[in-house]
Amino acid sequence: MMSAMIEVNNLVKIFNGTIRAVDGVSFQVEEGEIFGFLGPNGAGKTTTISILTTLLKPTSGSATVMGIDVMKDAYRVRKIIGLVPQELTVDDDLTGWENMMLQATLYNVPKKDAIERIDELIGLVKLEDAADRMVKTYSGGMRKRLELAEGLIHRPRILFLDEPTLGLDVQTRAVMWNHIKDLKQKHNMTVFMTTHYLEEADSLCDRIGLIDYGKIMALDTPATLKRSLGGDVLQIRVEGEKDFTPIIQGVQGVVEVKREGTEYRVKVLKGETNMPVVLKALTDTGGVVASVSLERPNMDQVFLEYTGRSLRDTEQSGSMNKSQARTAAFHMRRRR
Ligand SMILES: Nc1ncnc2c1ncn2[C@@H]1O[C@H](COP(=O)(O)OP(=O)(O)O)[C@@H](O)[C@H]1O
Ligand SMILES: [Mg+2]
Repeated sequence: MMSAMIEVNNLVKIFNGTIRAVDGVSFQVEEGEIFGFLGPNGAGKTTTISILTTLLKPTSGSATVMGIDVMKDAYRVRKIIGLVPQELTVDDDLTGWENMMLQATLYNVPKKDAIERIDELIGLVKLEDAADRMVKTYSGGMRKRLELAEGLIHRPRILFLDEPTLGLDVQTRAVMWNHIKDLKQKHNMTVFMTTHYLEEADSLCDRIGLIDYGKIMALDTPATLKRSLGGDVLQIRVEGEKDFTPIIQGVQGVVEVKREGTEYRVKVLKGETNMPVVLKALTDTGGVVASVSLERPNMDQVFLEYTGRSLRDTEQSGSMNKSQARTAAFHMRRRR
């Protein structure tokens, strides 16, 4: 019996003898899981994917995909994985259908099977109406969807997606998410994806590894990562003069209560289950609740907690080159 679909042990990749792009990464991905690598530009996401998909040799460490060593048996690994790379690779001067057929040929899919699968996959990513148009007439989102379909032509058991929604608008990103969720639900596919979008990692991934400077800083389910920050916050307004602090404090799951006039800021372990009990305690003791809201820690706060910096800031602070230069500078500093 195989334990994990992907198993990575102490993976290291050093470029040019100085840049520690991947710096001792270990993790496992189970069957049917959507596993996400979340981190800023230059964190080492693409380098890790390149090693796992046999395009790059690690400096040290090991990795297996379905029990097969990515270094010793690259050919077998390639047959069972699909890759949708960060950079677009579809051919502009071919139609969507022709691009798919080209991919099928590269993977030695028999022509009869290929024709059947192309229809199915083009349907999956909803490109039926555009299949016979040249790709140069496609929008960015259509290209990404075509690439997703291409990555599936040889029916891989594991799909690697490198920034599947990079540069797409919010709506198109949501469409891509649905396609990815479909793959998991309908085909029990295992997905390893990278992203620097916080919401995407949060809503799409079963587990997330936060990666920064080539290291995994935290790894767990989005819910557990957020809960590790110390819980949710209920913001409750209760009418009248009475101080309900002791009553709220008595509710199980309540960690801390701060009162400011009629406003209570209540830190709880788990908002969705603690909130109704707190509200009931209030009404049972004569409180009239005027309003209530639930604030949850978001992934950006999680990222800040574990890496010491906000992913939003790094995202906004300009171009990829600048960020990568900073990464390189950081690694140089650290080596001294
Ligand atoms: N072929 C390469 N040669 C030298 N440095 C590289 C190469 N590929 C990536 N790097 C560096 O390794 C680090 C990680 O890059 P990458 O894995 O592309 O990050 P991400 O995908 O998270 O943005 C960056 O500092 C990048 O500049
Ligand atoms: Mg990348």
